[in-house]
Amino acid sequence: MARLDGKTAVITGAADGIGHAIAEAMAREGAHVFLGDIADSAGEDFAAVLRAAGHRADYVHCDVSREADIAGLIDSAVKKTGRLDILVNNAAIAIGGMPVHEMTDEQWHRLMSVNLTSVFRGCKYALPHMIAQKSGSIINMASAQGHIGLDGWTAYAGAKGAVMAMTRQMAVEFGPMNIRVNSISPGTINTPMNDRLIKEIGGNLAKAWVKMHPLGRIGEPSEVAEAAVYLASDAAGFTTGTDLRVDGGLTAAPRYVPELL
Ligand SMILES: NC(=O)c1ccc[n+]([C@@H]2O[C@H](COP(=O)([O-])OP(=O)(O)OC[C@H]3O[C@@H](n4cnc5c(N)ncnc54)[C@H](O)[C@@H]3O)[C@@H](O)[C@H]2O)c1
Repeated sequence: MARLDGKTAVITGAADGIGHAIAEAMAREGAHVFLGDIADSAGEDFAAVLRAAGHRADYVHCDVSREADIAGLIDSAVKKTGRLDILVNNAAIAIGGMPVHEMTDEQWHRLMSVNLTSVFRGCKYALPHMIAQKSGSIINMASAQGHIGLDGWTAYAGAKGAVMAMTRQMAVEFGPMNIRVNSISPGTINTPMNDRLIKEIGGNLAKAWVKMHPLGRIGEPSEVAEAAVYLASDAAGFTTGTDLRVDGGLTAAPRYVPELL
């Protein structure tokens, strides 16, 4: 028996990167996955590939900065399967690389809308179904940046820190209803988000990332997906309110790397 047999999972930002890997892993483990994203043709194609492999998958357009889209994504999953077991609030954007005093209000609000308000709304629309069902697992994507400092990323880190705080609060509030709420903090992962940052920032960024991780490499999306499958599964039945770091030791290490100076 697969680890998520019979479960319905909603994953945001599922057309690419970490969300894509989570959706693939959860589908492989038997879940009916509902993929939300703004990259419609990539999302539709991905759902079709999963179905062709014998999995259950649907793509639904969902811009997580729009409340109605999030409500619609969750509604589609519940209408089609009659349940909601797993919500992965994964979608986020990377606006940063500038000091606080050079960030515009517009950039701040955009980042908070996509990276933080989306988590509130995902939970807001998922919880009534999970409460009625008396079970559920919510997984919020945080980041190593919510644990340690990195020049230029105050707003992103602020949103991720808030995601972890909200995770703990909801774990306490909804634990009595058998709803588990956890977060994952990835270190640097090999995704399009980071490909874009390497192009934008250039220099020794890719090399520095490798050096910063005690395991001597960056991570793969499938390694974060394994953590998500675990947290979503009954094997994690007594795990709630935690943040699982999948970061190659990044947050256990000092940032001082002499050979890069
Ligand atoms: N890649 C890393 O190193 C890393 C490290 C720590 C945390 N994270 C977190 O992991 C999550 C996924 O990151 P990633 O690297 O896979 O990103 P990515 O940019 O590679 O992929 C993100 C996906 O989200 C989608 N998306 C973007 N804006 C959206 C919106 N408004 N609504 C819905 N979908 C939207 C994109 O189309 C894409 O499919 C994010 O929460 C990110 O903050 C990533």
